[in-house]
Amino acid sequence: MKNFEVKTKICFGEKALERLSHLPYKSAVVIADPFVKSSGMIRLITDPLDRGGVKYTVYTDVIPDPPVDKVIDGVAAIMKARPECIVAVGGGSAIDLSKSIRKFATELDKTFNPWMIAIPTTSGTGSEVTSFSVITDPKAGVKYPLSEYSMIPDEAILDEELVKSVPPTVTADTGMDVMTHAIEAYVSLNNNEFSAALAEKAVEICGQFLLRSYNDNNDTHARRKMHIASCLAGLAFNSASLGLCHGMAHQLGATFHIPHGRANAMLLPHIIEFNADINMHSKSKKEYAPCVRKYCNMARTLGVYNLNEITTIRAFVSYIQFMNKEMNIPLNISSIGTISESEYMAKIEFMAEAALRDACTATNPRVPTKAEVVDMYKRLW
Ligand SMILES: NC(=O)c1ccc[n+]([C@@H]2O[C@H](COP(=O)([O-])OP(=O)(O)OC[C@H]3O[C@@H](n4cnc5c(N)ncnc54)[C@H](O)[C@@H]3O)[C@@H](O)[C@H]2O)c1
Ligand SMILES: [Fe+2]
Repeated sequence: MKNFEVKTKICFGEKALERLSHLPYKSAVVIADPFVKSSGMIRLITDPLDRGGVKYTVYTDVIPDPPVDKVIDGVAAIMKARPECIVAVGGGSAIDLSKSIRKFATELDKTFNPWMIAIPTTSGTGSEVTSFSVITDPKAGVKYPLSEYSMIPDEAILDEELVKSVPPTVTADTGMDVMTHAIEAYVSLNNNEFSAALAEKAVEICGQFLLRSYNDNNDTHARRKMHIASCLAGLAFNSASLGLCHGMAHQLGATFHIPHGRANAMLLPHIIEFNADINMHSKSKKEYAPCVRKYCNMARTLGVYNLNEITTIRAFVSYIQFMNKEMNIPLNISSIGTISESEYMAKIEFMAEAALRDACTATNPRVPTKAEVVDMYKRLW
């Protein structure tokens, strides 16, 4: 039996943040990316809380790719404050950290059960509606995608005003993360009709609005659309899960601190070629792997449908590379410029083993061998 459920109530559109002035809670802890406080954006959150008479404290001990020790510190802080509600504000890092803090705090004290509202300030991870929280173990050099139903936020508020300050590189990285979520969910072994509908809409919006968002921070319409696409893609992969691209990207993030969306963007063309088993040397066949039809559907949604399966997959791969080039995302590790060839090559075996163990890899449409993953990491150089 399969099931599909949306646990999170989603407020979106104009004045969505007004929801914060109507909360039925007396106390809250706002867990926010430090940027949210230093930029003054926090007022967009605290003003409606003030109007609603909610007493709150603001906690900003958040860093990108949250490590285990920040979860431990956050659990101690939240257990001390014991708020009725946690308001998580920031990119995937702030929201993931908040989700893990709530999970471990409520496990330690079963009488503590705060409501959680997630308010994303990037259009990327979809973490506001997913059961995932990606935590890094810096000593082991591994990122762990924890996943549990109880981690899904109770509410999400999508307000595009919060993403207008995102710098172009972060718009590019997070936008390609949305694209990767939708594409991986669509071809995942766990895909279903509900996740497919969400993924198709998310990809359609990325095709129409990602470059517009990148080119103009204040394009309100494009920003709103990408914020919604991020959430749609989150709902899609929350149901269908992801694939090898995320499995391999997590290792690039943990080992070389390559931003999450950027790692996905760089890997995605290689993963599509691998899963489809189609590359520049392929000849027409009678039958293709089942994911080929799905990739062709996605290509059609993006307006790059072509003559046959081989030319369509080639055009799809070129389209992803075109998006990366337009948004200054490097196509390979060597062009990042800060990682030496010898240190990269030395880590490939370790990263390949960790990628095969990564929970996201389990639903990839083609089962990879270690040698194939090693080969893809090498080609990424
Ligand atoms: N939980 C999930 O389902 C899920 C899915 C994918 C990725 N992730 C994880 O989420 C993390 C990445 O999240 P992210 O891509 O949103 O980036 P992020 O939260 O790490 O933020 C990236 C940078 O952008 C800054 N920033 C955030 N919002 C801003 C704004 N409005 N204006 C200016 N700067 C802003 C942050 O301060 C930070 O420096 C990774 O750890 C990744 O593994 C989680
Ligand atoms: Fe992602």
